[in-house]
Amino acid sequence: MRPDAEAVAALAAELMASRIRANPGSVLGLATGRTMERVYDRLAAMDLDFSNCRSFNLDEYIGVPAQDEHSYRHYMDEHLFRRVNIVRANTHVPDGMAADLGAEAARYERLIREAGGIDVQLLGIGEAGHIGFNEPLSALMSRTREKALTPVTRRQNAAMFGGDPDRVPARALTMGVGTILEARELLLLATGPAKAEIVAKAVEGPITAMISASALQLHPRCKVVLDEAAASSLTQREYYDWVFQNEPEWEGYRQS
Ligand code: F6R
Repeated sequence: MRPDAEAVAALAAELMASRIRANPGSVLGLATGRTMERVYDRLAAMDLDFSNCRSFNLDEYIGVPAQDEHSYRHYMDEHLFRRVNIVRANTHVPDGMAADLGAEAARYERLIREAGGIDVQLLGIGEAGHIGFNEPLSALMSRTREKALTPVTRRQNAAMFGGDPDRVPARALTMGVGTILEARELLLLATGPAKAEIVAKAVEGPITAMISASALQLHPRCKVVLDEAAASSLTQREYYDWVFQNEPEWEGYRQS
């Protein structure tokens, strides 16, 4: 638990940076969205060496060309890739313009496998509980595939499309829940009061395909970093605070 969104970003950037320093050839799993903007600002300001890193993004809208300002490829280029020394050819975002989306999904899965799997995967959470674009009832073993977006998600992302949910693409290519769970470490971030209820369900509720983020409970190395507002509906707060203040793995992160 951190006091605000800036502190969440600071801790997340510190964690990612420590992984990159420890393993300069890290395979990074990346996410887009508003929560991540601050994280990428901080990573870009840290003078890290990304030259041997490879990256895989979670998802991309279908039918939005890479050069379009709404594409997730464009988001990544702007917020991170052009600001650090990562080799662009080593950055991967699913191709939402592929003629054969099934083949593109299979290619993406193959690329992740050939890279040796993802070392650390950054995740945000949608108001409907998605990770990536795994909307409610996504199979917990799902792989990269085409997915229709829920009205909740299209409303959540409308701000980036002039406030009009109908302009938000209706479909996306997304890593599956099963793909995400294969990453060696997961880092879920959430900020703001709009996420409080879904965070509590995902973290403390039963594992259910209705809330894809609840599947993270199955992962042995998953960290959840929240600001006060996003943490406000959790019931075991006292325990989480104790763990953060006392467990050795959080040493060095308490001041960030
Ligand atoms: C983005 C993604 C989504 C977002 C989630 C939260 O690549 O996969 O799951 O992480 O929708 O978005 P924000 O941060 O905008 O609230």
